Amino acid sequence: AARVATPLSGAARVAAVLGWPVKHSLSPRLHGFWLARHGIDGAYVPLPVRPEDLGATLDLLPRLGLAGVNLTVPHKEAALPLCHRLSPAASRIGAVNTLVFSADGTISGDNSDGQGFLAGLAEAAPAFTPSAGPAVLLGAGGAARSIAVALLDAGAPRLWLVNRTRAKAELLAEHLDDDRVRVADWADRAGTLKGANLLVNTTVLGMTGQPPLDLDLSALPTAAVVADIVYSPLETPLLAAARERGNPTSDGLGMLLHQAAVGFAAWFGVAPTVDAALRAHVLEGL
Ligand code: ATR
Repeated sequence: AARVATPLSGAARVAAVLGWPVKHSLSPRLHGFWLARHGIDGAYVPLPVRPEDLGATLDLLPRLGLAGVNLTVPHKEAALPLCHRLSPAASRIGAVNTLVFSADGTISGDNSDGQGFLAGLAEAAPAFTPSAGPAVLLGAGGAARSIAVALLDAGAPRLWLVNRTRAKAELLAEHLDDDRVRVADWADRAGTLKGANLLVNTTVLGMTGQPPLDLDLSALPTAAVVADIVYSPLETPLLAAARERGNPTSDGLGMLLHQAAVGFAAWFGVAPTVDAALRAHVLEGL
């Protein structure tokens, strides 16, 4: 794959990721790879934007002709009321990660995290069927919220929410407002695995510098897919244990790459592919 950036013309399309901080974002690296691969007259840049500057930034960037932006911590929820249009996923999740600016200054907000998660899962475990059985979601933060919406939309017959702070799982359940959702205590997490079709870790446990997730997998059917949204390291202790006992697994990089493809296609007009060369390129940046 070409790694040499195309020289920019005066008509170059520009997109950005807004975060505070933003310097650890892998998005410029992965969008840059696709731009070079497709020889696109365009650029994708990191912009450090303080929370108090988000409104002014989203007022100005469309007027400067940017194609759109990704949003990362801490802007995903704050940007939602600043959009003129929202996708059904963004409104249900209550957060946006992808904005598309039109020439008249209109901002369309979408959230591709849940969709990206399902696409990563479909790639890693092609036999996975969301409607085939209960799903267990560990964690109750922003990532859990978008994955919960995607799983319910995909027809999960039961969704267990399990979080260290139970009150946050209860709040998420209230937000989801769906009678397929159940909340369990963190102490009872191993018990929810009985008969499950999917286990997803959306907590920080297992990430480099964090303790591993302490979870007894013995009740989990070996056909169940185990997914982790942590991608540093790529093989978390949870995924290693799952693989060891024969469960199909899905790592956190798939979600990151597939959620990005949605914005890229909207801004640059090319549907990019997620393949081994991209994965290797992004991993080099970790
Ligand atoms: P994100 O937006 O990526 O989902 P987040 O909102 O910071 O991130 O959520 C982090 C998740 O990791 C939370 O569910 C958090 O649990 P609490 O709600 O109880 O804080 C979970 N988490 C962090 N450290 C944890 C730990 N040591 N044990 C269990 N869960 C932990």
